[in-house]
Amino acid sequence: MKVKPVCVSKKPIGIIGAMAVEVEALIAGMEGVCVEEAAGLAFHRGTLEGVPCVVAECGPGKVNAAVCAQTMLLRYEPRLIINVGVAGGVGSQVHIGDLVVAAACVQYDFDTTAMGDPLGTVFIRRASGDNEDVRLLPCCEEAAAVLLGEARSIYGGAHFGVVCTGDTFVADPEKNRFLDEAFQAQAVEMEGGAIAQVCYMGQVPCAVLRAISDCANDESPMDFPAFTKVAAEKSSQLLKAAIGKL
Ligand code: ADE
Repeated sequence: MKVKPVCVSKKPIGIIGAMAVEVEALIAGMEGVCVEEAAGLAFHRGTLEGVPCVVAECGPGKVNAAVCAQTMLLRYEPRLIINVGVAGGVGSQVHIGDLVVAAACVQYDFDTTAMGDPLGTVFIRRASGDNEDVRLLPCCEEAAAVLLGEARSIYGGAHFGVVCTGDTFVADPEKNRFLDEAFQAQAVEMEGGAIAQVCYMGQVPCAVLRAISDCANDESPMDFPAFTKVAAEKSSQLLKAAIGKL
């Protein structure tokens, strides 16, 4: 009798983390895993809690994240892409160990303000000519609601709001204040906004789920190595708990 591999039975959920520590617990928890290489990256296909998934470590930064997300879209046609991992907390209400679910992402370092555009505006081109300038790259409301609901029942809640993305590890209280004031952001990281743009262009829903490893301030160079593992595991555990409802 031929057994159909589970990993090709249904459109998968794509999961992307920048660092090994952000995806290793998810990959370890998968069943029927096969690993494929594309764009030089490893894509782990299998099921997580019975849900078909493809999981990849993209490496830090917007270009790595975009290459990974676009490759995932073209090769696996995921029905949703989720970016998981750690982030720096923004503002005074977000603390180490907290969870943040993105309502939207902004590439805060994309700067054509000299030309009169609001900071973080990105320029989407479409073959139809229906081009668009977007500042707040939207995340899937339904997926965010599931993640927030699960966070409420397991951890007592999560922050919900804007996640700032840029190619800098932020360890500066001034920059933190700026991100808070300019975007009312909850967290800063280096990939979510790039993945959100790829998904927006590809018309695929996306979600960004982060656990806070540091507060994007003077303490970050010490806090990040100390808290990243625990924070990354928290975001993985939440995703594992929620994935059956996504
Ligand atoms: N990821 C985790 N902490 C971060 C920070 N402070 N800045 C950018 N990305 C991060």
